[in-house]
Amino acid sequence: MLEVRGVVKRFGGVEALGGVDLDLPERGVHGIIGPNGSGKSTLFNVISGFYPPDAGEVRLDGRTLTGLAPHRVAQAGVVRTFQLSRAFSGLTVRENLLAAAPDRLGERPLAALFARPAWRRQERALAEEADAVLERLGIAHQADVPAGRLSYGQSRLLELGRALMARPRVLLLDEPTAGVHPNLVVRLAELVRAIAAEGRLVVVIEHNMPFVMGLCERVTVMDGGRVLTSGTPAQVRADERVLDAYLGEEPAHA
Ligand SMILES: Nc1ncnc2c1ncn2[C@@H]1O[C@H](COP(=O)(O)OP(=O)(O)OP(=O)(O)O)[C@@H](O)[C@H]1O
Ligand SMILES: [Mg+2]
Repeated sequence: MLEVRGVVKRFGGVEALGGVDLDLPERGVHGIIGPNGSGKSTLFNVISGFYPPDAGEVRLDGRTLTGLAPHRVAQAGVVRTFQLSRAFSGLTVRENLLAAAPDRLGERPLAALFARPAWRRQERALAEEADAVLERLGIAHQADVPAGRLSYGQSRLLELGRALMARPRVLLLDEPTAGVHPNLVVRLAELVRAIAAEGRLVVVIEHNMPFVMGLCERVTVMDGGRVLTSGTPAQVRADERVLDAYLGEEPAHA
């Protein structure tokens, strides 16, 4: 289980996270919503090891992830996507997936050299895995196209595919529907559901309320770098503090 304990993150004078505690479930889809600047992306950056917190800790099954480099956090099973594509535009879609797969023979180049048959078997297995991921995302026909030539929506799918190649236990998606065509939003919801149904946890930051409310078993609301509340979509929708947070100001006085 993924636990966030007392996480504080400051940027100069800005306190982006002011002591966040969060227990995320073992599996399923969990939403994180909140107004602009409420600390959602910063929380993902801390969980995934991109930013060290100023205080607090992130644990997976009781083991601390805090202080690990992002690729170590990914090896532990927690993988994030980025809002801007991090794909190599000159490599093909398939090559991008292969580049995103961690080396499953370990990080010992010499050992890999002396174990060439094993290495070739791994290459083949990875290529099959990449093709299965492309099939699943519906972009198999683009496998040999340079990533730079994908449409915006397809490049979002490639981002998701790159994350899946790491075989995550916990997948962190930061605004997956942003700027995406409504048809693709529907498909993204199906994909996220299917990915979670394999026994993983998917955590989704979103501003698209119908998407998040339709998809998530529980939703956490952030405001001003803190957790305002967590609950089912129905509970969160009925909570007046949530609306107040989005309006961003004290209720006007008559
Ligand atoms: N790298 C950074 N350097 C300086 N300030 C930052 C940095 N990243 C985030 N912040 C600040 O921290 C606060 C929280 O930002 P964050 O990006 O986490 O919000 P968010 O909830 O993801 O917002 P949005 O919904 O707009 O994406 C903001 O005030 C932001 O300006
Ligand atoms: Mg953000």
